[in-house]
Amino acid sequence: MKNKKTLALLVASAAFALPALAQSSSKAELPAVQRAVHVCASCHGDEGRSKDKLAPSLAGQMREYTIRQLKDFRSQARSETDIQAYMWGISALLTDEQIEGLADYYAAQKPAAPKSRNPKLEAAGKELFFKGVPDKGVRDCASCHGDQAEGAAGFPRLAGLHPDYVYRQLRAFRTPLRPHGVLMKNETQALTETQLRELAAYVGSR
Ligand code: HEC
Ligand code: HEC
Repeated sequence: MKNKKTLALLVASAAFALPALAQSSSKAELPAVQRAVHVCASCHGDEGRSKDKLAPSLAGQMREYTIRQLKDFRSQARSETDIQAYMWGISALLTDEQIEGLADYYAAQKPAAPKSRNPKLEAAGKELFFKGVPDKGVRDCASCHGDQAEGAAGFPRLAGLHPDYVYRQLRAFRTPLRPHGVLMKNETQALTETQLRELAAYVGSR
């Protein structure tokens, strides 16, 4: 029979072992995933911190969201011009396991430090991000994307995405090109061009 002290020790060591277990169930270290990461880095940057405004940062992105996007590229459901040009070909080569591994890998990378580009635009965007536009039925963005725009499960991280990329997505949600963006359609339909720019500036600065 174990005494109380050993039991307490066992409980404590189990708690320490848990993060390690979670780590080892990640598919990020699979050789086929690491080879792919190398290719992705040529556009999305080292560890998914993009220095190129064309390719969005992937570091810190929600696992579930990345999996859905890669599958949407592979099935050609997400079909903006640049996605067709850059992501359809490469995603066609990925297995489900690689997709999960890539999503594990990017979810675990540290996002780049926040960067302000246009404080005035960002301040207006912040207001919209937290309040929405109630009289037009636009909900606040924070309720789905998080108070730090850090994302949650299927709701993507927006913090640190380049404002030009974010703006293009907000426009794309008004079209049939991102069919899984249905939750975003109401939000973007009622917003003006200026408001889209302000929101893009704000989340990009986080
Ligand atoms: C030749 C350049 C290039 C390569 C290589 C590349 N990508 Fe991309 N990727 C892009 C561009 C450009 C976009 C954004 C297109 C747009 O603006 O619509 C994109 C978009 C994405 C998105 C959508 C991000 C979001 O926030 O919705 C994901 C996820 C993604 N790529 C993952 C990957 C992964 C994983 C790899 C490696 C297997 C990879 N990409 C390789 C250029 C590239
Ligand atoms: C009801 C929940 C909800 C609300 C409110 C919401 N979003 Fe989203 N948003 C989503 C979901 C879900 C997606 C992912 C869609 C997909 O899978 O293509 C998304 C995707 C996005 C993307 C694309 C990200 C990328 O990496 O390509 C942007 C940008 C975005 N939202 C901005 C906003 C802004 C700005 C607001 C506030 C005006 C907002 N969202 C409000 C649920 C929401």
